[in-house]
Amino acid sequence: MNVHDSEKLAGLLESKGWISADSIDVTDVVILNTCSVRQKAEQKVLSRLGRLRLMKLANPHLKFVLAGCMAKAWGNKLFGQVPYLDVVVGPGAFTRVPELLEEAFTTGNQLLDVSERDDVFTLPAGKIRNESQFHAWVTVMEGCNNFCAYCIVPYVRGRERSRPGNEIVAEVRTQVAQGIREITLLGQNVNSYRSERGDFPELLRDLDPIEGLERIRFTTSHPKDMSDALIHAVADLPKVCDYLHFPAQSGSSHILERMKRGYTRETYLERVNAIKQCIPDVALSTDIIIGYPGETDEDFQETLSLIREVEYENAFIFNYSIREGTEAADLVDDVPIRTKAARFQLLLREARGIIMRKNQCLIGESVEVLVEGAAKRGGGKLMGRTRHNRVVNFSGTAIQGTLTMVRVESASPNCLYGYQIA
Ligand code: 5AD
Ligand code: SF4
Repeated sequence: MNVHDSEKLAGLLESKGWISADSIDVTDVVILNTCSVRQKAEQKVLSRLGRLRLMKLANPHLKFVLAGCMAKAWGNKLFGQVPYLDVVVGPGAFTRVPELLEEAFTTGNQLLDVSERDDVFTLPAGKIRNESQFHAWVTVMEGCNNFCAYCIVPYVRGRERSRPGNEIVAEVRTQVAQGIREITLLGQNVNSYRSERGDFPELLRDLDPIEGLERIRFTTSHPKDMSDALIHAVADLPKVCDYLHFPAQSGSSHILERMKRGYTRETYLERVNAIKQCIPDVALSTDIIIGYPGETDEDFQETLSLIREVEYENAFIFNYSIREGTEAADLVDDVPIRTKAARFQLLLREARGIIMRKNQCLIGESVEVLVEGAAKRGGGKLMGRTRHNRVVNFSGTAIQGTLTMVRVESASPNCLYGYQIA
C-alpha cells in the first residue's frame, strides 16, 4: 500500500510538471513516504533524515517532505524531532503535496496536513506512475475498522471507505490499455468492500472479462470475513489467481483473542479447509507476529503446528512491535528478547522448509509464467512469475508481458529454474 501511495504521489507531481531526479544530489525536493506499522520502519526514516541533514546545510533551497502514516502518527512532534522538515503530510491528504510544496517554496514556512480528504480516490486514471511495466496496484478501499489490538493502521489510515466500483473498473481498463497485464487490488480488508456495483466477489466478476488483462490478485483477506462467495469467485474466475494472502497472525486461540482478531484457531482452520476444498491448487500465505504479550511456549507451539498444518506457500514473520495508542500498548511486553529471537528463527526455518519442499515438488512440472523481462543475475535468461507468485528464471524467447509455459528443472527456496516449452 505504501509503495502504491508513492506511485500515486509520483504520478500526481509529474502531472503538475515536476520531474523525478536521476540522483538525490541534483534534486530540489526529497520526499520520504513512510510506514508506521512497526517501530523499525519509523527508525529507518529518522536515521535516513539524519543522514540527509547535511544536504540541507549544503543547499538551503532544498525541501524535505515527510509523507505517509508516520506523518499522521507523529503530527507536529516531527518538526520538534526533525527541525529541518518542510512539509509533513498524512496518507489522507497526499493529493495536497503539490500545493503544499509550492507554498513552502514561496513562504519558507513549515506546513502540516494530516486531514482525511475525500479526493484520495479521485486521482485520474492514467496518472499513476507504475513501478512495473506489466503489473499495477489498484486501490479498492482505504482505512480499516477492525482495530486489532496491536495495529496502528486504523489510527493512521482512518475508517474504512470503499472506492466506487465504476472508478475501479475504469482505472483497470486504462491500465490495461497502457500495457498492464496483471493487477493487485489493494485494501486492508477487501472482504468488507461494498460499492454501487456490489461486494468484492461481484467486483472481481466485473473485472475478470476485461480484455487484455491476464491476472488478478488481491490483498488482504481478513479471515473473520472470508465469505463462501469470495472463495467461489476465486475458484470460478479464470483470471483471478489461486493465491490468497490469509494472515493468521498466531496459531493460538488464546493469543488471537488477546489480539482481538475475531476468530479462533478452529474457525481459521475451518475457512482454510473450505478454501482448499473449493480451490484444490490454492496457494496460501500468511503474516505471523512473534512475541505478542502473553505468548507462552504452548501458544508458540500452536503457531508452529498451524504453519505445518496449512503448509503456507509464503510466510511473513514479524517481531511484535509496541505501537503507542493501540490497545496492546497497555499490555505488559513480557516475552524476553532472547525467547522472541529463538521463536522467530524456529518459525522461519519451519516456513522455509515447507516452501522448499513445495518448490521441489514442482520439478518436472510445467507452470504458467507471466514474463517480466531479463533475469537479474540470469546470464541471458528471462524472469517471470507463476500464478502462485513464485519467481521463475528460465531460458527461452518469450516476449515481455506475455504468458508462457515453463518446465521446471530445479528449485531454491526463492526461485524456480527451467526452460520455456510453449
Ligand atoms: N507489531 C508487529 N507486526 C505488526 N503488524 C501489524 N502491526 C504490528 C505490530 N504492532 C503486522 C501484521 C500485519 C502486517 C501488515 O504487519 O502481521 O498483518
Ligand atoms: Fe491492522 Fe487488523 Fe486492520 Fe489488518 S485488519 S489493518 S491488522 S487493524
